[in-house]
Amino acid sequence: MGLFSSSTQTIPISGEIPNHIAVIMDGNGRWARKRFLPRVAGHKRGVETVRDLVKQCAKLNVKYLTLFAFSSENWRRPEDEVSFLMGLFMDALRREVTKLHENNIRLILIGDQSKFNAELVAQIQAAEQLTANNTGLTLTIAANYGGRWDILNATNQMVGNNSNKTNFTEEDLAPYLAMHYAVEPDLFIRTGGEKRVSNFLLWQLAYTEFYFTDTLWPDFDDKAFQLAIQSYQQRERRFGRTSEQLANS
Ligand code: IPE
Ligand code: IPE
Ligand code: MG
Repeated sequence: MGLFSSSTQTIPISGEIPNHIAVIMDGNGRWARKRFLPRVAGHKRGVETVRDLVKQCAKLNVKYLTLFAFSSENWRRPEDEVSFLMGLFMDALRREVTKLHENNIRLILIGDQSKFNAELVAQIQAAEQLTANNTGLTLTIAANYGGRWDILNATNQMVGNNSNKTNFTEEDLAPYLAMHYAVEPDLFIRTGGEKRVSNFLLWQLAYTEFYFTDTLWPDFDDKAFQLAIQSYQQRERRFGRTSEQLANS
């Protein structure tokens, strides 16, 4: 290690296709309102987009796809929308898990599950167990997830396990973070026009390439996804270095 120690110091071998794509799926409500439909109709349509994107990522050999489904702040929404989202999530899990398994996809949930009902938690565990040894795409769903929660939760566990130690390093913390099993995201996509991170993967996005599009989530089709990949392919990832250094290495 050189003068400073950062997990993003080494340049990941990021080829044409990002290894890890993290997505904030935003704009379902506006998609519905444009059609004079209730907001929840947008969430329902959004599930179709998820299905297509998973298929597309598996085909392109993306290793990790991480989707923000419900933030720790989304509990502030009207109660009927929250319970609709939970129900939708449960239905989708029930309906899709066999197909995921058949396609060699590993499913992992991240987030605070303590507020979920027992039935949902059991279903999540069953789905994770069923797909645990799959070696294709790893699909991570962030549900009741918050970046600050993640960092704090990891810190508390790390300190609890090392009561005599001080001066922890990034490497000490890494295994306690929710996404410890994955490389950091190469590409971050947010649909729906907002240009913010909304407490998604704060730690892990340190050197991720950001892509924002006005396209609303239910309209985010293969073509829109291709545009995001193309944008990524034009970036030069320097991780603090100069362009010249990269050319010489
Ligand atoms: C994203 O769409 C889905 C969730 C947050 C669950 P929104 O519901 O935020 O849609 P807009 O932003 O209101 O259009
Ligand atoms: C972010 O979307 C969370 C998810 C997509 C799950 P929001 O629509 O809730 O984000 P804010 O609150 O407008 O930033
Ligand atoms: Mg939104």
